[in-house]
Amino acid sequence: MCVFQIAIDGPAGAGKSTIAKKIAEKLNFIYIDTGAMYRALTYEVLERKIAIDNIQEIIHIAKGCNIAFKDNDIFINNYKVNDEIRSRRVNENVSYIAKIPEIRNMLVCLQKKIAFNSNVVMDGRDIGTKVLPNANLKIFLTASVEERALRRYNEIKCNNSNVDIESIRSEIIKRDRMDESREYSPLKKAINAVTIDTTGLTIKEVVENILVIVKNQRANN
Ligand code: DC
Repeated sequence: MCVFQIAIDGPAGAGKSTIAKKIAEKLNFIYIDTGAMYRALTYEVLERKIAIDNIQEIIHIAKGCNIAFKDNDIFINNYKVNDEIRSRRVNENVSYIAKIPEIRNMLVCLQKKIAFNSNVVMDGRDIGTKVLPNANLKIFLTASVEERALRRYNEIKCNNSNVDIESIRSEIIKRDRMDESREYSPLKKAINAVTIDTTGLTIKEVVENILVIVKNQRANN
């Protein structure tokens, strides 16, 4: 079977999930938000009150739990956690879980399995480099820290009036640093990825831009 796979990587708040989801809808492809998988595991670890530096116990939990997508909803042990994984405490802790090599191996393996032989749009930090190194199209989405902080602020503000943009900005900088500097599988642009800076662009503009690239690429395949 001839499949077309799209890898979208980039830092937190660059618009990856929103854009990847829309592209998948337009193309009728499966959408896989790999960040949601790291977040779901983080949620489980926090719920079980495991210390974030108790690596052996975290690995043990990961081995025994079932992370799955059903129609773009994320489940851990059959419990839907779409909202729970977006909480502040998950935001603050997920990078610690995502830097554990054993955890990455397990989730990368699961991600490869989900994508196998399917038309997919997958977003994360290591999709073009590790999960789908042979993806037909690799996109690296970026945006300025200021714009990314403003986007997160507007997102969170709807449910919580107690947020300040400066702390969101520092959280983003801290998370970028951790994602980029971790020893194992850091956030890195794949050599053959197309970079799109989304600063000042609307979601619609970015989606259209990518769809044109997909169309050209598919015509050449
Ligand atoms: O994209 P996001 O903000 O939902 O990602 C949550 C965290 O998971 C973030 O700290 C980076 C990490 N992550 C990762 O290391 N590798 C991926 N493929 C996806 C996310």
